[in-house]
Amino acid sequence: MAAEIGATAAAARPPQDEADARTGAARPPRHVAIIMDGNGRWAARRGLPRVEGHRRGVEAVRRAVRLAAEAGVRYLTLYSFSAENWSRPAQEVSDLMRLLKRFVRNDLAELHRSNVRVRIIGERDGLAPDILAVLDEAEGLTRANTGLTLVVAFNYGGRQEIARAARRLAEEVAAGRLRPQDVTVDRLSAALDTSDIPDPDLVVRTSGEQRISNFLPWQTAYSEFVFLPDLWPDFGADAFGRALAEYAQRERRFGGLEARTA
Ligand code: IPE
Ligand code: IPE
Ligand code: MG
Repeated sequence: MAAEIGATAAAARPPQDEADARTGAARPPRHVAIIMDGNGRWAARRGLPRVEGHRRGVEAVRRAVRLAAEAGVRYLTLYSFSAENWSRPAQEVSDLMRLLKRFVRNDLAELHRSNVRVRIIGERDGLAPDILAVLDEAEGLTRANTGLTLVVAFNYGGRQEIARAARRLAEEVAAGRLRPQDVTVDRLSAALDTSDIPDPDLVVRTSGEQRISNFLPWQTAYSEFVFLPDLWPDFGADAFGRALAEYAQRERRFGGLEARTA
């Protein structure tokens, strides 16, 4: 009986969902988070300065946003600058800041037209006023949009985010507004920058590195990871398709014995 119902449901699905029906995986992942890595190596292989890799990386960002929206992904998180990236040479840091500002200046109107809602996560304290202004502008303009949520992790470090959340809860306890036993998983989640964003279903990292580099350590407790050999400036439909196909083969169990969707 169950098999019959399953077969009927599968038959009713459009063909592109057949693989999902077979594996029991969720149709498109609701939330895809990407560690965009390999810009520097892309440039070095061509004898170009690293900044050229970052510039081409911005074009890959545009493709990623479009591809995610087309695939029916609801949340796309992009790791654009880590809390540890300040340790790079000053010239590279300033190139990256300039590219962020230029991206917002050039692309915000189009993102808004496409109904994309922009969210920024990461530490804002200590950022330069001109950077803060573009981050606020992007979030403010698109706040009411209902399409893809584009989460930009900027000056983001997962351990720092957890420490900030813990500090906030500790202040509540110290003020007598919260009891120590109320510091639960749910409350800590709610104190993170991502409080209103579901956990990533799929984390993709390009460039062949297989580490998370302080990206969403709390939120990825049960995420699926796909590591692609492609360098970020080469990311496009082909690489994204491979990542989604790999995800569709995965069976998520969340500690239980049965396959589950998020
Ligand atoms: C990713 O590319 C972009 C940022 C970290 C901002 P990289 O700059 O890390 O490129 P590789 O890893 O040196 O090739
Ligand atoms: C992670 O890449 C940060 C971003 C993609 C923004 P890195 O290139 O900084 O990571 P590591 O240093 O290789 O771990
Ligand atoms: Mg790197």
